[in-house]
Amino acid sequence: MSATVVVGTQWGDEGKGKLTDLLAKEMDLVVRYQGGHNAGHTIVVDGRRFALQLLPSGVLYDHVTPVIGNGVVVDPGVLLSEIDTLTASGVDCSRLIVSGNAHLIMPYHQELDALTERHLGRNKLGTTKRGIGPAYADKAARVGIRVQDLLDAKIFRQKLEVVLKEKNLILAKVYNRLPISADDIAGRYLDEFAPRLAPMIGDSVGAVHQALDAGRNVLLEGAQATFLDLDHGTYPFVTSSNPVAGGACVGAGIGPRDIAAVIGIAKAYVTRVGSGPFPTELTDEVGDLLVERGGEFGTNTGRRRRTGWFDAVMIRHAARLNSLSEVALTKLDVLDTLAVLKVCVGYRVGDRVHRQLPYHQSDLHDAEPVYEELPGWQEDTSGATELHQLPAAAKEYVQFLSEQVGVGITRVGVGPGRDQFVRFAAP
Ligand code: GDP
Ligand code: IMO
Ligand code: MG
Repeated sequence: MSATVVVGTQWGDEGKGKLTDLLAKEMDLVVRYQGGHNAGHTIVVDGRRFALQLLPSGVLYDHVTPVIGNGVVVDPGVLLSEIDTLTASGVDCSRLIVSGNAHLIMPYHQELDALTERHLGRNKLGTTKRGIGPAYADKAARVGIRVQDLLDAKIFRQKLEVVLKEKNLILAKVYNRLPISADDIAGRYLDEFAPRLAPMIGDSVGAVHQALDAGRNVLLEGAQATFLDLDHGTYPFVTSSNPVAGGACVGAGIGPRDIAAVIGIAKAYVTRVGSGPFPTELTDEVGDLLVERGGEFGTNTGRRRRTGWFDAVMIRHAARLNSLSEVALTKLDVLDTLAVLKVCVGYRVGDRVHRQLPYHQSDLHDAEPVYEELPGWQEDTSGATELHQLPAAAKEYVQFLSEQVGVGITRVGVGPGRDQFVRFAAP
């Protein structure tokens, strides 16, 4: 068998948790391949809400082995408290495998993330302040500390002392902060976290390949999204990893030929949290209505999300970058009350209309969306379970998006619940 990727096609929070959970019914392994606890993936089962940060969204099923891949950055304290919370609510997390090659988020990463943001002032990126950028920076600079280092106190200490020397200089001389003590960190990471994490630390790449070789189903769950990708997103207003489907190969340890399907996930409109360009952003009462009806507040930071009309130019580009085989559309129900819907089908920059994302980002800042208007349906869709129960105008809206994007929309979300997905077309 081969692997399926779930990837966000906008700026995050499209409903990756919900889709992953739905698909996980048929999966044996669910692997997170990048990001860290900057992610917040929500699953709602029988009215109970689970907001996962590090654990793969397949964890709610007993038959699934959840895997944290090598491409993830792990804050061990956060991971353990997430495990404790889930365990307390009756979820068995004992099958979890955490890649030994994943990098650790250290206390100085978190502190430096917040300090850098403050230093940037009004040019701040609006990060989640979870230490994600500094942890990936250390990985690239080859001074990161890996999960497997928790299993060797001597190596952990050695690496920590080398890296802390530099971090403490930066904290003191650049930011006028107190130094961080190696003993304090070692006390928590080696004495408190390591013994609990040790049984979960393992060879995630081996586990993925064993499953693939045995003909099992593997789902690779992206965090963040295409336009937050370090290489392909709206740099510098991006995260520090590669959420695009190609990142799934690196972050889980497979080659491209092992991937059979890439499911892109998009909201029926667009949201973004944090700074950066957003051509279809709405700052009027329609924007407020989307926030209100969509509950558009960060899953774990609580920040209000920016909202805007569906942008087909973005998803056309996401289709290319991820080789999308299909798209799942979420939150159609949020549009239920609107009389008119707009869809951005191109960007006007100067006297030119771009159908594909302009290469130069200044063009994106200046882009004036070219909209097509479609009639709303003004009917409640949240109870629909089958296609024929959707109002005609809702089906036309989805069909229009699908044609504009050039990829089939196979599922449509009409509510947060696990089963609130309507099959729209065959993949
Ligand atoms: P993720 O980060 O991509 O997993 O998405 P989040 O969980 O951060 O944000 C998506 C939010 O929308 C969550 O609160 C979900 O419960 C909710 N949601 C997902 N799909 C739908 C849908 O089809 N309709 C509605 N109304 N809410 C949805
Ligand atoms: P999920 O997986 C939405 C955004 C932050 C900020 C930028 C960089 O739930 O979709 P970082 O802390 O990663 O250095 O912040 O990326 N961001 C997200 N926005 N959903 C997410 O995750 C995000 N993870 C990071 O708001 O703009
Ligand atoms: Mg989220």
